[in-house]
Amino acid sequence: MIVLDKENKVFTLHTQNTTYQMKADAYRVLLHTYYGPRVSGGDLSYLIQYADRGASPNPNEAGHRRDYSLDTLPQEYSTCGVGDFRLPSIEFEPEDGSRLADLRYVGCELRKGKYALEGLPAFWGGQEWETLVVYMEDASARMSVELYYGVLEKHDLITRAVRVVNRGTEPVQLRRCASLCLDVQRGDFDLITFDGCHALERNLNRSPLRPGVQSVESVRGTSSHHHNPFVILCDHNANEDYGLCYGAALLYSGNFLAAAERTQLEHNRLLLGINPYHFCWTLASGEAFTAPEAAMVCSPSGFGQMSRQFHRAIRENLIHDPLQGKRRPVLINNWEATEFTFNADKLVDIAKSAAPLGLELFVMDDGWFGVRDTDTSGLGDWTVNEEKLPGGLEALVPKIKALGMAFGIWVEPEMISEDSQLYRAHPDWALGVPGRPYARGRSQLTLDFSRGEVRDHIYGAIRKVLDSADISYVKWDMNRSLTDVWSTALPANRQGEVFHRYILGVYELLDRMRRDYPHILIEGCTGGGGRFDAGMLYYTPQIWCSDNTDAIDRQRIQYGTSFCYPISAMGAHASAVPNGMTGRRVSMETRGVVAMSGTFGYEMDLNETTQEEKEVIKKQVAFFKEHYDLIQQGDYYRLTDPFQNGPYNAWEHVSPDRREALVSLVSGTVHASAPFCTLRLKGLDPERTYQVNGQGAFPGDVLMEAGWPLPMVLDDYQPMQFYLSAL
Ligand code: GLA
Repeated sequence: MIVLDKENKVFTLHTQNTTYQMKADAYRVLLHTYYGPRVSGGDLSYLIQYADRGASPNPNEAGHRRDYSLDTLPQEYSTCGVGDFRLPSIEFEPEDGSRLADLRYVGCELRKGKYALEGLPAFWGGQEWETLVVYMEDASARMSVELYYGVLEKHDLITRAVRVVNRGTEPVQLRRCASLCLDVQRGDFDLITFDGCHALERNLNRSPLRPGVQSVESVRGTSSHHHNPFVILCDHNANEDYGLCYGAALLYSGNFLAAAERTQLEHNRLLLGINPYHFCWTLASGEAFTAPEAAMVCSPSGFGQMSRQFHRAIRENLIHDPLQGKRRPVLINNWEATEFTFNADKLVDIAKSAAPLGLELFVMDDGWFGVRDTDTSGLGDWTVNEEKLPGGLEALVPKIKALGMAFGIWVEPEMISEDSQLYRAHPDWALGVPGRPYARGRSQLTLDFSRGEVRDHIYGAIRKVLDSADISYVKWDMNRSLTDVWSTALPANRQGEVFHRYILGVYELLDRMRRDYPHILIEGCTGGGGRFDAGMLYYTPQIWCSDNTDAIDRQRIQYGTSFCYPISAMGAHASAVPNGMTGRRVSMETRGVVAMSGTFGYEMDLNETTQEEKEVIKKQVAFFKEHYDLIQQGDYYRLTDPFQNGPYNAWEHVSPDRREALVSLVSGTVHASAPFCTLRLKGLDPERTYQVNGQGAFPGDVLMEAGWPLPMVLDDYQPMQFYLSAL
């Protein structure tokens, strides 16, 4: 619920459990007054204190009033060059070369429903949303800034977006435009970020905010494996079930900056948005720029609640699920089994071994097109390689379908190999400065997706493939960080737009594909989880979590991913052992238990598994299908932290009506004389009694408070699952 007190210019956004408030003061400066547990309302600006601080200037209108400074007051959207020396949200440069931004309130508007952002992903929905637009201006520079707030009360979600309009007559260069600025005056906070590298994404890192700025960012053109555009500010003692925390996600798949600042007054500022690195956008007179959407959830009761609210909102109001609530298929993908070395018979063979075990979708990965026997050639030539697949997909797909399986295909539309027909025809379609040697990444170059004709050509070729057979799934891959970011289509003074235009191009094409093929499930992938962000989830309902399919490493990767992103979005497959990346051998049972806590599938040649393993797989798939809704749509509880290397790692899915739960766990490395372990469950109904794995009935409160004794294990990495159903 949004409450506008227009007279006092106090705007309050209530969600079910939280309240957010801002106020335009006597100088029309928009102050942030509160974000935290839900309170009744009123004007919370009494919380703001004023004092003369040395070295903090005072705005012109304040005259000689020295206790009023933009440098000390909590700002709703911070400015620069006029007195706030903390992290700026916006910076622009008119023709005179000045770099000042001084925003003042000019009006506001309340709308029913949710705003949309042209060309950018955004949460969507109907009347359950309310929108507040706050209009600001820099009168001297004749720049308007519109601040958008979407309120999804039931999920405690507040979205934000910013639109900047050049109202002057001359062009202005926009150099910085954050999506979210959050000034929290009181509190000693930790900053949590999710960091890593290829094959080890989204490791949780937590450290106290110290004076100055701490930040994570991407300058790779993707949101990256290395840092995620989702961060948390939280109380020092916040944990899964306790403490105040603010989660902030950027719906953006390119360069981002997430920065937190501890200020001179021990206030806290969080900033999230497009990275100003190599960003400079020219706005001609009358033109507008829209910054990507950011979404915030504040949880007064720990990370678990915050994550569950993000999960619900992302599932219900961000992802477009082509299957509309129907179960997504359990898939088998040939990549780890064959890499580039396959032909139609091999693929059919793999599918034949998978179908009787209950697998429903066969995904043909990289290597089916152009001349593509290694990763040094073929990208850009999206025609079927008939040497590998005689008769094309027209011949192959019916054979797969005859086995009762659906068919899916891998593409990497944004890329081009130098050794390709496309490159030979259009070398200037790759990003790069003419005459300057460019860097390769995975031996390939990046297509200039800022250019419409490049996108049209690629899409035209891919469409022919999609139209040639019955295809119900596309894995959209992207396998390098961007370098040589320069476009032949733009003049020198607009090259600062290429990074962002590239992502807008990716979104445009994904949106076209999504609309043209509404029945196709698109899985995102960027060398594994290099673009696992809320922006991509708008177009691709699931994203391959990581190229690392080792079940032990995966627990950490999926744990970190789960802080913002739902289980139904996490591509997770069981693969062969010894694992190609870690050399580790764990049982099929363990691999299955970990992978089924995601969008389940297998990534191996099942002809090479034993009969015993096949039986295990068959049971796993049947179990997953039986409990699909519970796992994919249920509430997720992290019961342990896999980074602690404890005796076991456990997690739990609870149905929304709390009548069912599934507890999954994997033990750690075994030790002699190990202590007995009791696992306390979460999220159950304390008033109900649950049947546990058919081993007896126990009240919910007992299972949550007293717990469940875990059997001793005599080997490393043993899996267990307990299914609970209310009597
Ligand atoms: C990336 C993906 C893998 C696979 C290969 C194919 O690494 O993450 O899953 O598709 O590309 O080249």
